[in-house]
Amino acid sequence: MPERPVRGTVWLVGHPVAHSLSPLIQNTAFRHDTIPWIYLKIDLPQRLVRPFLRILPSTGAVGLNVTVPHKETVVPLLARASRDVEVTRAANCLRVSRAGLEGHNTDGAGFVDALRAESRWDPRGRTILILGAGGAALGIAHALAQAGAGRSVVLNRTPSRAHRLVRRLRAAHPDTAWESDALVAEHLGRYAHESDLVVQTTSVGLDGRSRLPFPFDLLPPRALVTDIVYRPFETPFLRAARRAGRATLGGWAMFLHQAARSYRIWTRRPPPLGVMRRVLLRALNAPR
Ligand code: ATR
Repeated sequence: MPERPVRGTVWLVGHPVAHSLSPLIQNTAFRHDTIPWIYLKIDLPQRLVRPFLRILPSTGAVGLNVTVPHKETVVPLLARASRDVEVTRAANCLRVSRAGLEGHNTDGAGFVDALRAESRWDPRGRTILILGAGGAALGIAHALAQAGAGRSVVLNRTPSRAHRLVRRLRAAHPDTAWESDALVAEHLGRYAHESDLVVQTTSVGLDGRSRLPFPFDLLPPRALVTDIVYRPFETPFLRAARRAGRATLGGWAMFLHQAARSYRIWTRRPPPLGVMRRVLLRALNAPR
């Protein structure tokens, strides 16, 4: 088969990026839709992000994804920023336009898309319990509020960070009821029985073994438990939730749907979601 000509590049910029599955998903989608672009990744230290972004438009690049730790770094370099970027002060998806770089944040909205598409779950009027108060918690809490969540409680090991996060979110979304507190057993017990959705955003569990203690038995029987970590496919947190009889959704779903949103921003086309889901689940060795 003849090689396809490449007429545009899309980049992943982060540190590290070696194990990212974004190139696999996006290149599969481009190939499926016969889009003559290639998705490449580059590991950049902080000091090279600005020069890289400056030369990018003259190289035939059409867009990029930005990942940890550069999502905040790129914001001052944007010619235009979406409301998601304004609220979260972070961007994970950039489009090269005539006016310069246009910034979006598809993480939070991708999480909400995942709830709807993969778990048939709608945030409208619901009570959310968010564990952790970092960048991921901010993006997700903002997107859930935008989707009509009624009440959100943010619990964090360092309570001052949770309070600060909630102050910012309350200003952006005054119609949602916001609460923040320390992530301790007593508070988990108090809030669990009122929660329709639990969102695990802390870095506990990234090692595949540790697990944040949580009283899953106290959740309403129909509550949904989610974790943003997608390797391992089922985190110890989700395994414990499932064993307690609660519905779960793994971090793969948010990863898939933020990628689908990025694809739509660059190509202006509907993403081939089924193809993207299949290749991701296979790469993660998901049980069939
Ligand atoms: P991100 O931006 O990806 O969300 P982050 O800003 O490093 O990452 O946040 C990591 C989150 O995990 C924080 O909420 C952190 O709590 P602190 O604010 O108290 O640091 C949380 N976290 C990390 N280790 C933890 C632990 N052992 N127990 C509870 N929470 C932990």
